[in-house]
Amino acid sequence: MSKTMIMDHPLVQHKVSLLRNKNTGTKEFKELVCELATLLCYEATRDLPTEEVEIETPIAVAKTRMLSGRKLALVPILRAGLGMVDGMLALIPAAKVGHIGMYRNEETLEPVEYYCKLPDDIAEREVIVLDPMLATGGSAVDAITQIKKRGAKSIKFIGIIAAPEGMQRLQEAHPDVDIYVAAMDEKLNENGYIVPGLGDAGDRIFGTK
Ligand code: URA
Repeated sequence: MSKTMIMDHPLVQHKVSLLRNKNTGTKEFKELVCELATLLCYEATRDLPTEEVEIETPIAVAKTRMLSGRKLALVPILRAGLGMVDGMLALIPAAKVGHIGMYRNEETLEPVEYYCKLPDDIAEREVIVLDPMLATGGSAVDAITQIKKRGAKSIKFIGIIAAPEGMQRLQEAHPDVDIYVAAMDEKLNENGYIVPGLGDAGDRIFGTK
């Protein structure tokens, strides 16, 4: 069974509160999404393997530890997931970045992938899928299904706010995927928005509203 982590760190809670405020403007909103991605990245990479190395300090040789070469890939779900990429790369600059875009066919209600470009060696990488809002869970579930079809074997999901419905759907569809979020909200409304949430994350990141 996967691990689910709702980060209760004071800095995370403070920044999520600022993000929720309808009076927070685009510039600050974007910066907060980036900072939260960095804090969530710190937690989600806690289990990366390390190996002992010898480093010469100005004083002596130190036996110490470094990451043991596990390769990472970030896959933001278009469009809002893009807002989290720079914050993740601040801690893991060597990660490759793929992109996936999904929409739902209004008649069949089937997910349609309209864009997917992943690193060629995705099967050897630890993949972190990014989307700030885990609402119905539909996009995350479908995106992860597509990423698995292309060979990925180890996947984590990082979001900022989750609805219980989306969390449950993702856990059931992909029980092997660990989930990290900054907050779990009350519910979805009839339009699929998270309540209380923060509104449309993509619009607020890109200033399209
Ligand atoms: N996507 C958003 O941007 N906000 C929500 O509340 C739900 C989905």
